[in-house]
Amino acid sequence: MKVCLLMRILFIGDIFGRPGRTIVKDRLPGIVRDHGVELIIANGENSAAGFGITPSLAEELFELNIDVITTGNHVWDKREIIDYFQMIEGNGRGPARRVLRPANYPSDMPGWGLYEGMKGKIPYAVINLQGRVFMASNDDPFRTADQLLKQVQAKVILVDFHAEATSEKISLGWYLDGRVTAVIGTHTHVPTADETVLPNGTAYITDVGMTGPYDGVIGVKKELVVQKFLNGMPVRFEPATGDVRLSAVLIDCDENTGKARKIERLRLS
Ligand SMILES: [Fe+2]
Ligand SMILES: [Fe+2]
Repeated sequence: MKVCLLMRILFIGDIFGRPGRTIVKDRLPGIVRDHGVELIIANGENSAAGFGITPSLAEELFELNIDVITTGNHVWDKREIIDYFQMIEGNGRGPARRVLRPANYPSDMPGWGLYEGMKGKIPYAVINLQGRVFMASNDDPFRTADQLLKQVQAKVILVDFHAEATSEKISLGWYLDGRVTAVIGTHTHVPTADETVLPNGTAYITDVGMTGPYDGVIGVKKELVVQKFLNGMPVRFEPATGDVRLSAVLIDCDENTGKARKIERLRLS
């Protein structure tokens, strides 16, 4: 009889600015210790004061033992990330290769939307996709997932679906049920309470929520955003500072089949 060994994975929602980076630094070692986490994935698209991620911030997150960083629509906000992605050529194993941009961007864009690695003896893959509803138009994320899954060898496969519309996110969860370990929603910065393991073994949540300051509007100082809604004038957004929380999910999966057994929300302040 084959023994079922569980792998525990932590997925951290959009890390927003210094408050988000600081709470990850402060709380991640305790989470890893208390929950026996083996693989850590984080969405880092808002790491640089809410807008994008720089190479040095990515490497700061890697030093905290985060294995793979996903992104989304903010990926190009800091131009240095383009050079970082271009370093990947000829150095496919460097840290830059472990920062992803959505896979359904035009194929000639810098960077990659799929990472395949090993954690101990367990092969795993991370796929980053972006939605098309109320967002910039890109290639079809559903068919992009189909194409990528044809080439992935690992059974443990995590998908970060960075999307706005709940309907599009839930649909991708059903579409990939049984083919991936988890479909994890990011981007709205508002955690949802619908975490579940779908019938064929895919863990799903519509949005993990932001890791950053909640005393604001999705990470930004509330006065600035309210003012923007009142008068529509250009305004420079600055990160909020209060009520900082870490939003994440823990996923247990069978390391041989990649099927999820459990998904649990974590919220730390
Ligand atoms: Fe975000
Ligand atoms: Fe986003």
